[in-house]
Amino acid sequence: MTVRIDSSLRIAVMGLGYVGLPLALALARNFNVTGFDISAGRIQELNNAIDRNGETFSADLKSASWRLTHQAEDIGEQDVFIVTVPTPVTPENVPDLSLVISASEIVGRLLNKGNIVVFESTVYPGVTEDVCGSVLEKISGLKSGQDFYLGYSPERINPGDHVHTVDKITKVVAGQTDQVTNLLAEIYGRINGGNIFKAKSIKTAEASKVIENAQRDINVAFMNEITQILNAMDVSIHDVLSAARTKWNFLPFRPGLVGGHCIGVDPYYLAHCAESLGHDPQVILSGRRINDGMGAYLATRLMTELGDQAGRILVLGFTFKENISDIRNTKVADLVHSLKTAGHVVDIYDPHVHADDVVAHYGLSLLDQIPEPTHPYDAVILSVGHRIFIEQGCQIFSGLVKPGGILYDIHGIWKEISHPHSYHYLTL
Ligand SMILES: NC(=O)c1ccc[n+]([C@@H]2O[C@H](COP(=O)([O-])OP(=O)(O)OC[C@H]3O[C@@H](n4cnc5c(N)ncnc54)[C@H](O)[C@@H]3O)[C@@H](O)[C@H]2O)c1
Repeated sequence: MTVRIDSSLRIAVMGLGYVGLPLALALARNFNVTGFDISAGRIQELNNAIDRNGETFSADLKSASWRLTHQAEDIGEQDVFIVTVPTPVTPENVPDLSLVISASEIVGRLLNKGNIVVFESTVYPGVTEDVCGSVLEKISGLKSGQDFYLGYSPERINPGDHVHTVDKITKVVAGQTDQVTNLLAEIYGRINGGNIFKAKSIKTAEASKVIENAQRDINVAFMNEITQILNAMDVSIHDVLSAARTKWNFLPFRPGLVGGHCIGVDPYYLAHCAESLGHDPQVILSGRRINDGMGAYLATRLMTELGDQAGRILVLGFTFKENISDIRNTKVADLVHSLKTAGHVVDIYDPHVHADDVVAHYGLSLLDQIPEPTHPYDAVILSVGHRIFIEQGCQIFSGLVKPGGILYDIHGIWKEISHPHSYHYLTL
């Protein structure tokens, strides 16, 4: 295999979302990059230097030297393909591999001898070689490990995190052969100053990613379970954590709503893999059960305090975590759903999100500004600790609570403030 690692190296990045776009941008500073996304709208926005995910800067998109297309036939001959398409679960929480498979079919039609196909999408061990490799072989008529080569490099970027960016984090790489692993180390090393870890095999690299996220999920589930136990005793988890964290080896996890594209999804990939091997993944799935039920738990806790009367409730924050616009798999939707099902009227305010996305994905409409205090609420919930809410200060939002109503601060952000007796301050 002869692949020259210089600026003439042709790399196609397949899928320009949260993962693919920053990667394509970083690669385009070093190589001959083609960015492909099946969404014509996404390509049009990127050509206009707009990244609706807010993960890249407009100036960088404007100055990028690359080719972008939504038409597979425009991708042309390449040396390396990097697949960064979503890997969601079905409504039954079973891995949905249809997008990595369809991306593999597109790559299969373009594949030439000597090409390398790297997957970055989060999968369970075996998907790259056994599922995608087979599709690539079938469509291209070429033999994996002989005519073309597979690789895997898990992505670790974190939406909204401008510190741990693709050029600053350790990149795990693994190829089908040592030569491919070394080539991938050189390619990725160009964008992050050589900060590479060579995993022993593709399956090892796949497993490393999926356990990183499952580990996080289980730790948060433990916090959520402890929260439920402590709240039943009228003890705040936040107060308990302040004390427990003074021990040097206490792990600093917090309770909360585990949503998004990764932490709330990837453990199901691991569980599916375990079950296919005849293993019953008890810890992984019980963690998922607790975290998936947390939206309903939070709603029930508030409704117990509110009493039987249905009322008006304001929810502050709809994203799956703070300071981003990402609403994929947000568990705030579960909280809203539980409150509405019980008959409450729920208003939602989140200055970070695109209101049209919330309508399209959840059928919910958003307020376009903070409501006036003239029409106060029975309860105001700080569901996402966006910086902008914290900076605006507690008084702005407590001023929206009716006398005798509830300010429900899920994250305990305003726990240390001395609250007036005109409303009830509730936290976990
Ligand atoms: N978002 C994260 O922070 C993150 C972090 C680590 C790993 N991951 C993993 O990376 C993968 C991608 O996630 P994401 O967050 O970037 O997803 P995303 O939804 O932001 O973007 C995926 C893009 O792929 C496009 N696409 C879908 N099918 C395609 C196809 N067949 N060919 C070309 N483009 C296609 C979509 O139009 C979309 O623009 C997932 O497996 C995810 O689990 C995500």
